[in-house]
Amino acid sequence: MAAPWFEDEIGQSLAALLPGFRIEVAAETDSTNTELMRRARDGLDTPVLLVAERQTAGRGRLGRPWQSMQKDGEPASLTFSLGLPLAPRDWSGLSLAVGVSVAESLDAGRAIGLGLKWPNDLWVQDRKLGGILIETALLRPDVVERYLVIGIGINVGPREAAGLGTAPAWLKEWQPEATPGQVLHLIAAPLVRDVLQFEERGFVPFAARFAERDVLRGREVRLSDGTEGRCEGVGWGGELQVATADGSRMISSAEVSVRPASPIR
Ligand code: BTN
Repeated sequence: MAAPWFEDEIGQSLAALLPGFRIEVAAETDSTNTELMRRARDGLDTPVLLVAERQTAGRGRLGRPWQSMQKDGEPASLTFSLGLPLAPRDWSGLSLAVGVSVAESLDAGRAIGLGLKWPNDLWVQDRKLGGILIETALLRPDVVERYLVIGIGINVGPREAAGLGTAPAWLKEWQPEATPGQVLHLIAAPLVRDVLQFEERGFVPFAARFAERDVLRGREVRLSDGTEGRCEGVGWGGELQVATADGSRMISSAEVSVRPASPIR
């Protein structure tokens, strides 16, 4: 039986925030991000939430694949993308703000101890619970507004660890009754509210909230470009601050990945 996706409830809660909003559930697609980016290039400019029960070519940051099946071939993740036109003055820090929004919705009472690993991984006990992939498409030449696609994958059921750089965590470890549909229902409306707040006010309202969940701050880290140093948190534009032997470095490049030099004790 298909999982209930709470389309009516989500549609009602978002209609007032996003005129013209609609939600779609696909039994299968290559990637919800790829699909919404395709539509945006073909002229889509209205808000859509596309959730897929199965992705055949899910994508992560830095060109990595996003696998969402469990051992038995059943979907283990909630996989969806939210697409909407947006025109913030400054896009810096958007992916961090999205991470803050999702973490606060999933872990409102701090029962999970959900952290954020710069720029936008959801981490628990140094294991990865979810990831965020943000892409944008130009809507029209000479128009600052872009079509934003926020792709989110959250492990709900047990994930295979094989082939993953970081060991996985999954929600059912803490919430055995969790379903992908319930998780989507929980995070969708706050996510839209937070993205609209970001459009108005940028990363500033999210900076302290990110800092509260920042799993790298105060730790020795190693960047994919070979830099090593001590992480000193994130700046007002969402850039990672690392103290290295050669001085302080601000990392804003989406092409750089970072990981703790040693596991948490
Ligand atoms: C990452 O951890 O690098 C980001 C993972 C993002 C995965 C989600 S699943 C829904 C959406 N569709 C995709 O192909 N990717 C994102």
